[in-house]
Amino acid sequence: MEQTLAILKPDCVRRGLIGEVIRRIEAAGFRIRAMKMVHLTKKEAEGFYAVHRGRPFFEELTTFMSSGPCVPMVLEKENAVADFRALIGATDPAEAAEGTIRREFAESKGQNIVHGSDSVENARIEIHFFFPSIELVDRR
Ligand code: TYD
Repeated sequence: MEQTLAILKPDCVRRGLIGEVIRRIEAAGFRIRAMKMVHLTKKEAEGFYAVHRGRPFFEELTTFMSSGPCVPMVLEKENAVADFRALIGATDPAEAAEGTIRREFAESKGQNIVHGSDSVENARIEIHFFFPSIELVDRR
């Protein structure tokens, strides 16, 4: 079964939307295989988003991602990576489809509530960034 890495970003936590967003994720058929709350340091946020180093939004993005606690989780479902990207919608909430999580809740392109891996390979890397194997639950 395919897995993806989701993060409920600091804006989601700060605005009291953890429960609402998780409800939508579960209602869409994803099973949560791991979950925790962490407050990333600036350096850790820079490590997670290393592919974006040098982009104009990198400083703002990593400052935001280290501005408060976030909730990384491992989600499992058939076609989890693509289906989760569809559930959250486009990066910019103004361009996100009706009914998507970002369209519904995000206030800006930079503070867009939730992260979802963009490929199966990146999902594997991102899952291991946050979760040692002992924290990955395998419920049957
Ligand atoms: P990206 O990986 O392109 O988007 P997504 O999260 O939809 O996979 O970018 C990572 C994050 O960087 C994005 O969620 C918000 C931020 N960002 C900006 O603030 N401005 C931008 O122009 C882009 C492309 C991203």
